[in-house]
Amino acid sequence: MRTTLLLMAIILGPCVSDRPPVPLSYRAHCRTLWLFATPCVEVSAAILRQIQAFNPASGCSACHYTVVTVSPTDIRANHTSPDSLQMESIIFSFRPTMTGGCRVSAQSKSLDFIAVIDDGVNYCNLYNVLSASGLTSTTGFLEMTNEWACLGYGEADCST
Ligand SMILES: *[C@@H]1O[C@H](CO)[C@@H](O)[C@H](O)[C@H]1NC(C)=O
Repeated sequence: MRTTLLLMAIILGPCVSDRPPVPLSYRAHCRTLWLFATPCVEVSAAILRQIQAFNPASGCSACHYTVVTVSPTDIRANHTSPDSLQMESIIFSFRPTMTGGCRVSAQSKSLDFIAVIDDGVNYCNLYNVLSASGLTSTTGFLEMTNEWACLGYGEADCST
């Protein structure tokens, strides 16, 4: 009996104590860089048009994007996963290149601390917009990222 109580105290001890939980400093995210031979005004317009077309009101299967803010250098949006359990914050930043093209730094970050398992969600949030906008087939398009900067990149299947 005493052993049982002692065991329970050991097992339950940490749960009932009033110590704060261990902070989780990691959130699933993806950062990627895209280069285009097209000027930034055209690239950002195409990305914005696509995000707006992917508005939930349009009812399509990929339509889970809402525009948060738009400026000449940044587009911010939210993405809600189809099951509505996760939300990601998305930023596209536009910088002109010296050759008249555009360098886009894109980032998607899960807002839930528990969303460590990513399954390519953050990468696909970015890639699906780009791909649907037609920008991936423009001349000079180049993507630069890796598994370290972009969780799930490499295994991601964005076709759904
Ligand atoms: C985007 O997400 C943030 C964080 O959840 C929220 O505060 C903001 O209201 C959202 N904006 C829109 C336009 O949905």
